[in-house]
Parts: sequence; C-alpha cells; structure tokens
Amino acid sequence: MFGKRGKDGFGRVEDTAVQTPPLAPELEMEKAPEEAPPAPEPAPMSSNTPIAPGGNRPEKKRASKKSDNYYTTKSQVFSALIDTIDLSQLSKLDNESAREEIRDIVNDIITIKNFAMSISEQEELLEDICNDVLGYGPLEPLLARDEIADIMINGSGTSYIEVNGKVEETDVRFRDESQLLSICQRIVSQVGRRVDESSPICDARLPDGSRVNVIAPPLAIDGTALTIRKFKKDKLTLDQLVNFGSITEAGATILQIIGRVRCNVVISGGTGSGKTTLLNCLTRYIDETERVITCEDSAELQLQQPHVVRLETRPPNIEGEGEVTMRDLVKNCLRMRPERIIVGEVRGPEVFDLLQAMNTGHDGSMGTIHSNSPRECLSRIESMIAMGGYSLPAKTVREIIAGSVDVIIQAARLRDGSRRITHITEVTGMEGDVIITQDLMTFDIDGEDANGNIIGRHMSTGIGRPHFWERARYFNEERRLAEAIDSMEQTGA
Ligand SMILES: Nc1ncnc2c1ncn2[C@@H]1O[C@H](COP(=O)(O)OP(=O)(O)OP(=O)(O)O)[C@@H](O)[C@H]1O
Ligand SMILES: [Mg+2]
Repeated sequence: MFGKRGKDGFGRVEDTAVQTPPLAPELEMEKAPEEAPPAPEPAPMSSNTPIAPGGNRPEKKRASKKSDNYYTTKSQVFSALIDTIDLSQLSKLDNESAREEIRDIVNDIITIKNFAMSISEQEELLEDICNDVLGYGPLEPLLARDEIADIMINGSGTSYIEVNGKVEETDVRFRDESQLLSICQRIVSQVGRRVDESSPICDARLPDGSRVNVIAPPLAIDGTALTIRKFKKDKLTLDQLVNFGSITEAGATILQIIGRVRCNVVISGGTGSGKTTLLNCLTRYIDETERVITCEDSAELQLQQPHVVRLETRPPNIEGEGEVTMRDLVKNCLRMRPERIIVGEVRGPEVFDLLQAMNTGHDGSMGTIHSNSPRECLSRIESMIAMGGYSLPAKTVREIIAGSVDVIIQAARLRDGSRRITHITEVTGMEGDVIITQDLMTFDIDGEDANGNIIGRHMSTGIGRPHFWERARYFNEERRLAEAIDSMEQTGA
C-alpha cells in the first residue's frame, strides 16, 4: 500500500543489489572493551548513537563511533527505502504503524540486497532509519536521555549537551545542513510555523513540552543553530534541591513559608540557573483553595492545585499576525478574578501589570526575571517599566516596586556547574530615592576543592525577624519561621 512500487517491486531492486562486506566486526566496536583500538571516524551520516546514561567522555567515544561500513550500508538502505516508500502516505499513519511499515520494507531491503548483519545490528539500523524518517533523526537519542537539560546544535557538525550543570560536546552529527534544517522544519511545523531563509527565527515546542529555538542562516553564520531545553516530566522538588545542596533545609523551610503566606515573589537568575524549577517548587505550597492563573511563553509549570487556569502566549503566524503577548495575557488575567498570578518569565512591560496585580489584592503573585543579583533584578524591573513607555518619575517607579515585591530569590549556576539559591532577599521599603533590601540568607563561597567544586555555605545574615513576620503570623507559620531562622548558621558567628 505504501510502496511506490509496492513491496513486490523489490524484485527489481535485487537486480542492482550491491554486495556489501559484513558489518559485524565494526559494529561490535560499540560493545568492545575500553582498551579496544578506536574505530575509524564515521562517515558524515547521521550518528544517532545512544550514549550511555551519564556517559563521560571515554564512554562517549566508545559508544558513538560507528564504522564507515555502517554508514555506507545505512546510506544504501536509506536510499532504497526512499525510492520504495511513499512518504506522504506514511505521514498519514500513526507512529507505531509507520514504524511497522518501515520495519517491513527495511527488512526486505536487507534480505534482497543481501547485507550481512546480525539481528542486533539490524535492529540498530532500523531504529536509526525510523528516527531519520519519522522522528528527529540524530536528535532522538539525545531527546531520550532524561538527564540531559539542554541540547545545543551549532550547525550540522557540532553539538553540545548540558548534563549535571556541565556543558559537553557530543559526537552527534547531522548528515548535512539540509538534514538539520529539515528536522528543524519538522519540529516547528508541528506548531504551525516555518523556518527558512525568509523567516529564520522560530520558537516552538516538542510534543513532550521541551522548549525549542531555531535560528537559521543567514542569521546563524555557521549553520542552523537549534537549542532545546528538555522538559523534565518529574520536576525537581525543594527536598531534592536540599539533597543537591542548592539550599539548606532551613532555607527550604523559609521558601515554603514564603510560598504559603502569599508573599509577592520575584525569582531572579541567569539563563538556565533554575528559575522555573524554583518557581514550580514554590507553587507547591499554594493553598488548594486559591484560584491561580499562570501565564507562560511555553507551559513549563506543573501546578498541583485543582483550581488553576493555564495561559500561554502566541507568536505571530507566518503572515506576522495573531500575536498574543505576555502583556496581553497578564492584563487579561486581571479580569479573571485571580487570587494569584504566576508569570513564567517577565521580560518586558508586562512587569508593570504584574506589579499592579501584586499590590491590588493579588498577594502571592510570582514571576521570574533574568538578572544576576537581587539589586540587578530591581534595576531590571525599573528598565522594563520604562520599556513600556511609562514616563513616571524614577522615585514613583521605585515606590511602586518597593510597595509590590516582598521577596527576591536569587538562583545561580556556579562555575562548577552546580545550581544554588544564593540569596533570599526582602524588599523592605524606601529610604529617600533608594529601595531598601535585606538579605535573609546568602550563599557564601569559601573556595574550591581539588576537583574544582565550589565549597560554600548558606548563611543567615542575623536578621531576627523578617519583614514578612506578621504575614507568617497571620498564616500561623511564625513558629516554623523562627525555628528555621534560628537554625541557620550566621554570617560572622
Ligand atoms: N538546583 C538544581 N539542581 C540541579 N539541577 C537543577 C536545579 N535547578 C534546576 N535544575 C535543572 O536545570 C535545568 C534548567 O532549569 P530551569 O529551566 O529551571 O532554568 P531557568 O533558569 O528557568 O532557565 P531559562 O533561563 O532558560 O528559562 C533543568 O533541567 C532543571 O531540571
Ligand atoms: Mg525558565
């Protein structure tokens, strides 16, 4: 049904069958012991080789080098498959049936062309080919690895991943620029978008929720750049952050209380520092009875409460129309009787609407902002308000900020790859023209161990009662708060 020539048509393929040398010895490389001699460099065919979970560099080398023969055979099987199969028909099938169809045809090709392969080699080849035809080609094995946080493809020949906070190069390659671009196209077409020379920048999402950005030539000078923030199904919890050393138990308790007692919170941090993760953690402590509205560019938050409305922005369509911005969403939110508004990422003038929400009865609203310290976060808010075209005096703007934001939580990815919560800072008011803050907790760096890991401690700054004490009392949390603060080590103590 799906063959251009029908499966029986393979009889004709046989006439031109190429006898290829057996693959077995080269493919065995992948199972070879550590000291085995290195395999020859793979031909520039897709090298979608599974890399051992948590694989370090030596393992990666061993696992990802396939022989020239493998790629030659794959290339021949692939060409025969493309000649045989009708891709437009195939796209009408669900994934399972399409895989079955490809499996049947590839098995036929292997038999007819007389490629000598073991069952496991054949399985691997099938998997690779299915990934190329149906999935995301060489990206598939990276997408399958849960421990990868980011995938960064810099043109067809270079790719990096982030694992455990560290960025490392992988051997994953694309056949050429056109294979990479067509995979990007496949990804973005799922959200009704297009990426090519005339529209070279595109944000999209994979079906599993992973966030995707593509920027194509001529803007990306050395080839299409594809960046994926993998979606973690099981979001990290505060307990896990404590286990990782990102925060102490006492610090985590303070964060829980901040989440519960409806402080207005801004989470500040650099790219990939863990802002969204932290926001998600805080939302766990929101009371079940509260009506929460979330606004995000790409739905990442996973609120557990029953009364949640999730909103997502929309980029403009191919004609440049239909865009719905974060500001539109936040404004609309205010008409939806929210008790709390959660903004995934505050980037522009919507900050003003969020601040207004914060000081007009929507206590406990939260958002994240890209900035490297609580102080910088405050000036970013100021400049974002200016971006909205408001010509308010600086002092008025600062008063609005000081009157709206209660707590800034700073997240950071340190140079050893670890992610830490480096500040819990309260915004306490104004003195003259200046916003006054006080740190409840900071992460003090003592130095580095022999392996380059940062040694540091989370310390209390010795403030007996935080500014939100009364609020905590109102929610009957003052005792827990006092205990948490008392149990923290004090700076200079
Ligand atoms: N404390 C932590 N310890 C270990 N891994 C973490 C920690 N916090 C976050 N991560 C992981 O780091 C990655 C990035 O986290 P997250 O998406 O929360 O960062 P972000 O600051 O929101 O990034 P972006 O600026 O791109 O929005 C995720 O894979 C997440 O699981
Ligand atoms: Mg984020």
